[in-house]
Amino acid sequence: MKYNLLFLICLLLTCCKQTQKKEKLSKKIVIAHRGASAYLPEHTLEAKAMAFAMNVNFIEQDLVLSKDDVPIVIHDIYLDDVTDVATKFPNRKRKDNRFYVIDFTYQELKTLQVTERFNPKTGKQFYPDRFPKWKGSFKLHSLQEEIELIQGLNASTGKKIGIYPEIKEPKFHQKEGKNLTSVVLKVLDDYGYKTKNDNCILQCFDANELERIRVELKSELFLVQLIEHKEEAKQLKHFATYADGIGPWYKQILLEKVEGKFTFTNLVKEAHELELKVHPYTFRADALAEFSSFNEMLETLLIDANVDGAFTDFPDKVVHFLKNRNQLKE
Ligand code: G3P
Ligand code: CA
Repeated sequence: MKYNLLFLICLLLTCCKQTQKKEKLSKKIVIAHRGASAYLPEHTLEAKAMAFAMNVNFIEQDLVLSKDDVPIVIHDIYLDDVTDVATKFPNRKRKDNRFYVIDFTYQELKTLQVTERFNPKTGKQFYPDRFPKWKGSFKLHSLQEEIELIQGLNASTGKKIGIYPEIKEPKFHQKEGKNLTSVVLKVLDDYGYKTKNDNCILQCFDANELERIRVELKSELFLVQLIEHKEEAKQLKHFATYADGIGPWYKQILLEKVEGKFTFTNLVKEAHELELKVHPYTFRADALAEFSSFNEMLETLLIDANVDGAFTDFPDKVVHFLKNRNQLKE
């Protein structure tokens, strides 16, 4: 009888622990990293429409200014690793042999063909098993064009998919006499993205700029501080004074692998204590590094480490994984 009672108490405690663990898990968001970029050339409107159809929560826009101050959706300040600029405008490169978005007007940029990412020195495609280089007909586009696509699709489908714009290299823009942030904030405001309730998350690697956006420019948007280097994570408390979340490289969450299981740094725990959401980048099924499968990566970071969302080139796979566990934020 005594042993039965003991057994019952143990069972109850185990159940409680499991329930607590489940309750602790937050519902997660899927962010289409540069669109459904594993399947179509990154940051094309086609890749964004495909991501939309995959029922992600947010679609990402990296932003750089054109010569005539149009915010262009492109990952880098350079054009030569995703377009045919080198053959269309061979004389427009700078001394460093690179072609810069900021040296071209919107109309000129529109004449370029966009392709799958490649190394401009060797011509080699970055992810060889993705969409074939130079196939198809893709163009660059502005932030306004992309917002109109997403808002239009939201209207026609009844979905509420958000945008996740990134201010790219604000210091470079300032040196060139441009203010990317003010242009982007104006466009967001014009299209109704004003507060944390407006389905827009604004991100930046430059901590001074993101803090300025909150403190000086008084933005009420949901702000995410991107983290590139491990040491920056030491400033978490300061980030929490102006940001609502962090976007670390996923490796900053992993500590080591012991007997087939990953252990974690304190980053997620400390961020959650400061009420910061954690959206690590980048989940790629074709670049697994320390993981033996994509499923292991998803299980490890989304479930075991309990992050709040994932930037992914494979939105369909992450949506499917989270839906199966009833962990996808609706
Ligand atoms: O912005 C999150 C993630 O996209 C950061 O990496 O270099 O792809 O912009 P990157
Ligand atoms: Ca980005």
